[in-house]
Amino acid sequence: MKLTIDDVRSRFIKHFDGETGSVYASPGRINLIGEHTDYNNGFVFPGAVEQGMIAEIKPNGTRNVRAYSIDLKDYVEFNLDDEQGPKATWARYIFGVCREMMALGVPVEGFNTAFAGDVPLGAGMSSSAALESTYAFALNDLWGDNKIEKMELARVGQRTEHKYVGCNCGIMDQFASVHGKKGSLMRLDCRSGEFEYFPWNPKGYQLILVNSCVKHELAGSPYNERRLQCEHVAEVIAQKHPEVKSLRDANYDMLEEVKAEITADEYKRARYVIGEVVRVLNVCDALQKDDYETVGQMMYETHYGLSKEYEVSCEELDFLNEIAKEEGVTGSRIMGGGFGGCTINLVADELVDNFKKVVVEKFEAKYGKKPIVIDVVIGDGSRKLC
Ligand code: GLA
Repeated sequence: MKLTIDDVRSRFIKHFDGETGSVYASPGRINLIGEHTDYNNGFVFPGAVEQGMIAEIKPNGTRNVRAYSIDLKDYVEFNLDDEQGPKATWARYIFGVCREMMALGVPVEGFNTAFAGDVPLGAGMSSSAALESTYAFALNDLWGDNKIEKMELARVGQRTEHKYVGCNCGIMDQFASVHGKKGSLMRLDCRSGEFEYFPWNPKGYQLILVNSCVKHELAGSPYNERRLQCEHVAEVIAQKHPEVKSLRDANYDMLEEVKAEITADEYKRARYVIGEVVRVLNVCDALQKDDYETVGQMMYETHYGLSKEYEVSCEELDFLNEIAKEEGVTGSRIMGGGFGGCTINLVADELVDNFKKVVVEKFEAKYGKKPIVIDVVIGDGSRKLC
């Protein structure tokens, strides 16, 4: 069910003695292609979704933040000037955003807040970025005169992940959540920060997510290790090719040259990334020509790379990918960081109903639980609701 302002407002009023505040929202995201390329300075191709986070916020005249998570039924209070911050991870996202906004000179004051979300947690749809972006956008509006530009708000969320949660993520999720636009995907150059909106209106196809419901948590997962492996390969290549600043600048020949100097795992990781950087550009070209067969083929190649070279898949995701292939789905792959979560599928209109039915049946027959099928609707980015 779609989350509404009233769902949040009614709980805010109940929790904080009848008062109302301002309400803000930010979405989760999908990513058509370009996975694990952001922290390698390559391209990504995300779009915001309709599902997201909604938060009501009201200044309370103290230095304390009183936060209530409606979904978790958990309440945390922290002081803005405390260096340590709260223990609960969900509250650390809010704490991190406050601290990073303060570090940018925004005179944040204490507030009461309640929030809820309808982005499935741990599904690779960036529920945490949605939470960070909601508060970054809100604090900029409430205390920052909206002077901080959107890309910096996205970086506030990213720094929160790095410094307060322990996930050394790239910029894609927070970028997409803040900049999303209804009906458009965005191609972002993660090095320059330049991006372009691409209207997403594929004739004859739909994007469908299938959530394996295998929950993934990037903090504490091998995500950070993957990033280190990529950076190491780039450093080794740079000794011979100083123009290579990150894997985005590398090619297969360069990788072969250094094969003896890196581990077998590092070699595989880099092979995947070098291929993926090119695939994003191929997909953009194909989209200009309405060539969805090529888009789909690239998605399958990405899945193969994420599974066999980058090794961030799991049995359930590989199975979902197999089903898509068997059912004639045009493109299918793991979406997001991996280790669980969703596959994203590009499905021809006439196959949609059958695919949705069969994927649930086959998955349930094998794992004894139903995956969740989600129709992708590309929505807007961070905004004030009232
Ligand atoms: C997570 C990270 C992103 C990105 C993806 C993989 O969602 O937060 O920065 O690296 O994984 O593409």
